[in-house]
Amino acid sequence: MLDISKLNQCYGQSHTLRDLYLSIAPRACVSLIGRNGVGKTTLLKCIMGLLSLDSGKIIYDDTDLAGEPAYARVPMRIGYVPQGRLIFPLLTVEENLLVGLGALSGDEQYLPDLIFEVFPVLKNMLKRRGGDLSGGQQQQLAIARALAIRPRLLLLDEPTEGIQPNLVQEIAEIVIHLNREIGLTVLVVEQKLPFVRRVASDFHIMTKGTIVAGGKMEELSESIIAEHLSL
Ligand SMILES: Nc1ncnc2c1ncn2[C@@H]1O[C@H](COP(=O)(O)OP(=O)(O)OP(=O)(O)O)[C@@H](O)[C@H]1O
Ligand SMILES: [Mg+2]
Repeated sequence: MLDISKLNQCYGQSHTLRDLYLSIAPRACVSLIGRNGVGKTTLLKCIMGLLSLDSGKIIYDDTDLAGEPAYARVPMRIGYVPQGRLIFPLLTVEENLLVGLGALSGDEQYLPDLIFEVFPVLKNMLKRRGGDLSGGQQQQLAIARALAIRPRLLLLDEPTEGIQPNLVQEIAEIVIHLNREIGLTVLVVEQKLPFVRRVASDFHIMTKGTIVAGGKMEELSESIIAEHLSL
């Protein structure tokens, strides 16, 4: 479904992604793990077209995303939940949900029932300003906003960062539901290993801008963790 090859990206003189390869099969739930600052968010921004590449390919189905503007991801059904949520604080919840739909054709600009099936709490908050929601509710809104375009591929960047434990559990169950029952393919960047082990079918470990290990979730051993993830 997604096939990234020999990807390189630099911030000025700083070479951040280095000959990176990553493949995601349809309906997989893949976790990308790695220490702070190794380039996980940079990779998601490259997939979303928010950063330009220096070289490499990002093939989504049969299209090389490298040549496509950021908004082209919407009709291609790639949903994105950015790190830090980045909801619009002065827009209402409803306006936040509608924001991405402009890149779809007129008859597709409606909010799918899935949003309120997954986050019933948002139904009573549609007129509330995004900035007035709690941190946990803002994270729910950010995931709901990504679901508004009815994605086939969902990218989540640290969805449990700064979230209290009971909501972390809830977000895990939601990601599992979206992947296993709704059939979305998922790439989730996450630092919390219990969360990763619960939700993901496969893992990839990134260090210094490239993927250094990967496999089925059950193969993520303590020795791999000690080698690549311990501080
Ligand atoms: N706009 C930018 N300009 C220059 N350097 C940047 C920029 N954004 C990120 N970097 C640097 O690129 C490297 C990778 O950053 P990135 O945010 O992708 O890491 P990350 O793996 O997502 O980290 P974290 O786990 O803390 O979210 C870091 O060294 C960071 O300081
Ligand atoms: Mg990050």
